[in-house]
Formats: sequence, C-alpha cells, structure tokens
Amino acid sequence: MAKIEGIGREVCETTEFVAIVTQGEDGPHVVGNWGGYLRALGIGEDTLVFPAGHYVRTEQNLCRNNRIELLVASKAVRGTHGPGQGCLIRGTGEIVTTGDIVASVKAKFPWARGALVVRVEEVQTQL
Ligand SMILES: Cc1cc2nc3c(=O)[nH]c(=O)nc-3n(C[C@H](O)[C@H](O)[C@H](O)COP(=O)(O)O)c2cc1C
Repeated sequence: MAKIEGIGREVCETTEFVAIVTQGEDGPHVVGNWGGYLRALGIGEDTLVFPAGHYVRTEQNLCRNNRIELLVASKAVRGTHGPGQGCLIRGTGEIVTTGDIVASVKAKFPWARGALVVRVEEVQTQL
C-alpha cells in the first residue's frame, strides 16, 4: 500500500517548505527544502526526491545513519480541530549523484549536484 496517500499526500501537495532532520555525531541536524521543489519532481507513492545543492553535512550524517525525518505542514489542509495539518514523515535517506533520478533533477534544477532521495516508511498526522 502507498505510504504517501490521503491527508499526508494533501499536505505534501500544499506545504510551503519541508524541514529535514538527520542525526549527526553531535546531535540532530536540520535542513530545509521547498514544497514547490518537491512537487516539481513528483510525489511518489513511497519516495520523495529533493534537489541537493549542498547538503554536505546531511550526506555525511546519512552515510553513518540513514534514518531521516521530515516535517511538512499546510494551513490549506484541515486538521482535527480546525484549519491546518502537519505530518511527520519517517524513513531512510540517501544522497545520490548519478543515475536516472539525478538526470531528472538536473533537468529541472541545473544547479543541483545530486538528489536527496527519501524512502518513506511512515506518515503521521500532527494536528
Ligand atoms: C526553505 C529552504 C529551502 C532550501 N532548499 C534547498 C535545496 O533545494 N537544496 C539544498 O541543497 N539546500 C537547500 N536549502 C539549504 C539547506 O537547508 C542547507 O542549509 C544547505 O543545503 C547545507 O546543508 P548541510 O548543512 O547538510 O551541509 C534550503 C533551505 C531552506 C530554509
């Protein structure tokens, strides 16, 4: 069954930005991306792809520990108690620099050195 579906998909389709957390040797490391970039590359059933321009520490962290967590949110999606929903997305992440995915990222984002590919395992609503 698809992991990115229903409300989780709606939030991915409307989030302004994405917070991305990896685990470093000295604690958590947070970086960002734009919801519009995520949508430009297509929201898969279980996979999210982001253009990697830098993400140097993120890459080092993922090489040691590939666990990754993302937070997406949108006021345009209704939550349980009113307007606004957010989702915590958990899975594994990898920076890839060659292959078909990278070619499609570079076609849209020529400045990208590669792609951050997230294999989604779990999506949890927050509100
Ligand atoms: C809203 C937002 C969008 C961003 N988009 C990108 C992006 O598309 N690609 C990227 O490499 N860094 C992006 N960044 C910068 C990263 O958060 C990060 O500072 C930078 O890539 C360095 O990552 P590192 O600390 O893992 O080396 C964005 C930051 C924000 C706040």
